[in-house]
Amino acid sequence: MAATILDGNKIAAEIRAEVAAEVKTMGAAGIRPGLAVVLVGHNPASEIYVRGKVKSSEEVGISSEQHTPPDNVSTGQLLSLIADLNRRDEIDGILVQLPLPSQVDSKKVLLSVDPAKDVDGFHPMNVGFLSTQRPGLVPCTPAGIIEILSRSHIPIAGREVVVVGRSDIVGKPVAMLLLNANATVTVCHSKTRDLPGVCRRADILVAAIGRAGMITRDYVKLGATVIDVGMNKVTDRAEFMRLFAGNAKREETFRTKGAVLVGDVHPEVAEIAGAITPVPGGVGPLTIAMLMANTVRAAKLR
Ligand code: GUN
Repeated sequence: MAATILDGNKIAAEIRAEVAAEVKTMGAAGIRPGLAVVLVGHNPASEIYVRGKVKSSEEVGISSEQHTPPDNVSTGQLLSLIADLNRRDEIDGILVQLPLPSQVDSKKVLLSVDPAKDVDGFHPMNVGFLSTQRPGLVPCTPAGIIEILSRSHIPIAGREVVVVGRSDIVGKPVAMLLLNANATVTVCHSKTRDLPGVCRRADILVAAIGRAGMITRDYVKLGATVIDVGMNKVTDRAEFMRLFAGNAKREETFRTKGAVLVGDVHPEVAEIAGAITPVPGGVGPLTIAMLMANTVRAAKLR
């Protein structure tokens, strides 16, 4: 039986509507949450993400501003920009879009964001709050994954979860959130032995590797829930055929645009999974919706 498709656009729209209602209530009390986004240089993917974040802020009523230092910005210049944003009372959330150019000390920059305004949840203090189950700001994509599962009534407690990928942005924080929700969690990486065998244990499999279609049917137990965090652009014809041969709609996209967006999960997995997030339209929209929710939360906490 084909998998249930977990519609991220629909869930994200629900969350945005809830956030917009909260923003309206706060507005009646004279408070308007404010978000500052820092986008360094001209990374095309980052530009697309930031555009989405600014547009979504406007839609839910959050005031937003963008700072766009040039590619050759120094760590010191970024630290002074962030110090200024930390000081400004009308700014509730600060987001520094990653990756930063190689000359910038990213860890130093993320450490300089006021933890109370750290709507990405990347500051070590918020990481510590998450791992010790204290209230704090939680990274957006991991928080969005929990929303997808809970709003789709997929139980977490007591279940076997396998997370593939151990990044600070997704793998580690989602593993911690799932552990806090009483799952039995395994985190896999490039040195994991028998990765397909470990993944087949999962009731819930989270793929956050960044490799197009790497998770094939051999990695998935029949009926498992599969969360695909990957966003990979495929431009190579042979790679495209490995993933989408016979898919007329994708063939059309590939022919006209010369590229398709693919997750970390091979499309064939939809034939055996119980439920699966599509790419695009799965986890992606939740990341922005949770940023909006975090900004409102930061404003309330402050
Ligand atoms: N780059 C890729 N994902 C993210 C994210 O969630 N937040 C930020 N700031 N940068 C990113």
